[in-house]
Amino acid sequence: MTTRRHFLAGAASTGLLACGAGAAGAGRAPTLTAVAHRIQLVPEGNPTTEVWSYDAALPGPVIRLARGATLRRELLNALEVPTTVHWHGIRLPNAMDGVPGISQPAVAPGDRFLYDFTVPDPGTYWYHPHVRSWEQVARGLSGALVVEEEAPPEIDREEVLLLDDWRLGPDAQIEESFDSLHDRAHAGRIGNWITVNGRGEWTLSAGRNARLRLRLVNAATARIFSLGVQGMAGWVVALDGHALEVPQPLERLVLAPAQRADLIVDVIGPDAAEAGGEASAFLVSHERDGAFALVSVAIEGEARAERRGPPTPLEPGTVPPLGPLAEARRARLVMEGGAMGGLGSAMLGDEELALRELASRGKVWAFNGQSGVPEAPLLEARQGETVRVAIANRTRWPHAMHLHGHHFREIAEAGAAPGPLRDTLLVRPMAETEIAFVADNPGDWLFHCHMLAHAVGGMQSWIRVVS
Ligand code: C2O
Ligand code: CU
Repeated sequence: MTTRRHFLAGAASTGLLACGAGAAGAGRAPTLTAVAHRIQLVPEGNPTTEVWSYDAALPGPVIRLARGATLRRELLNALEVPTTVHWHGIRLPNAMDGVPGISQPAVAPGDRFLYDFTVPDPGTYWYHPHVRSWEQVARGLSGALVVEEEAPPEIDREEVLLLDDWRLGPDAQIEESFDSLHDRAHAGRIGNWITVNGRGEWTLSAGRNARLRLRLVNAATARIFSLGVQGMAGWVVALDGHALEVPQPLERLVLAPAQRADLIVDVIGPDAAEAGGEASAFLVSHERDGAFALVSVAIEGEARAERRGPPTPLEPGTVPPLGPLAEARRARLVMEGGAMGGLGSAMLGDEELALRELASRGKVWAFNGQSGVPEAPLLEARQGETVRVAIANRTRWPHAMHLHGHHFREIAEAGAAPGPLRDTLLVRPMAETEIAFVADNPGDWLFHCHMLAHAVGGMQSWIRVVS
C-alpha cells in the first residue's frame, strides 16, 4: 500500500495528471481509477479481502448516461500492472474499445488514457479490463454501464445487479491460481463465493405489487448462472442491452459470462407481516445443491391495489436490420480442444504443435486449427455488409462467444425468425449454430470466448471491417 500511495503522489508531481488528448474545451473528464484495496467481501467477522476495482468501489461505479450522450472517463491506472478498459457491448469507435495490440496500447502503471465516445443504444452494458482479463476481472475490476431510454418503462424501483463469482482461499484472499491449466481446459475459473454488487446477498424492500426493473450483469469469468424468481413474476425485456421485440415471460434465465438481462418483475409474495417479518420475494440462483437467494425482497410499506398490465417492449436501439441472408458473406468457426476434446495439434503462430507442447505454453483450445489470436482475421467485411458466421462447438464444454463492436442474431434454425440481438452467445457443448450481423463498425474487432480462462487458453479470433 505504501508504495502504491507513493506511486500516486509521484504521478501527480510529474504532470501525469494533465488532461488527455481531446479533453480541452469540454472540461476535464472524470477520472476512473483502477486500484487495489481491501473490502469486507465475506461476512463480517472474517478477514477483509484484497481486491482490484474501479474507484475503490466494488463493483465499480455504475456509469449512467442518457441515450446518445458522450461517455468521457479518464482511466488512471493506480495498479502495479498495465490495464485498459473495454466497454462491453457498446457499439463504439474502434480506438475506444480497450484492446491492447488491436485498438490501443496498454495503459502503464501511473498512466492515464482518455475514453471519449457516444453511447448510441439504450440498455445495460458493463466495463472491464482487457489486459490479463482472466486475472484482472477475477480480482474485481468490473462495473455496470447503463444507457437510459428516452421513454423508460413505468416502474417503482430499479436495481443494477452485478453478479460475480470469486475463488477465495481459507484466509478469504483471492486464490492466485489464475494460470491454472486445469481451469483453462475445463469450465474456466469457477469460484466458491458468489456476490451481488459485492455482497453475499442483496436485500431490499418494496410494497406489494411494486414493479422492479432488474438490470443483471454476469461479471463472472466462468460461471453460468441459471436464475429464477420466487414471490415475483415478470418478463425478460432486454438481453445484452437490447430490447426484445416481445417481452418474454420470465421462467428460467440462463446468464452466461458477460451476458446481461433486463427484467421487469412485480413483487407478489406474501407481506413481510404474513411472512413473519421475513423476505418473501427472491431472485434465486439454481445450483446443483438447490436454489439459493441472490436478492431478497421484504414486501412491506405502501402496496398497490393490483399488478400493472404486461409491459410494452423497451425502446429499440440503432442496430441496422440484417440484409438478405442468402447473399451474406460467410465464415465458419470450428472450436476444438479442452479436456476430453481429443485435440491432436494446432497452430500457435506459424508453428504446428502437438497438444502437449501447446499445453506447456498455456494453450489448450483452437479455433479453426489455430490457438490464440491468428495473424489473419476470421473474415474481412466491407462496412455495411451482412455477415454470417457458422459456429461448430466440437468440445465438451459450453462457450460464451463475444463479438466486439457489434450485435448479432442467432440464425440457427433455417426458416425460423432470427434470435434476439446479442453480443455474447452461449454455445452448448457439441452444438452447431450460426450468427448473422451487419458489419457496420469499421476496425479490427475481437471475437472470443468470454470464459476468460478459455480465451487465454486459445479461444480468440477477430474480424476486420473496412470502410
Ligand atoms: Cu467483455 Cu473482449 O470482452
Ligand atoms: Cu469457452
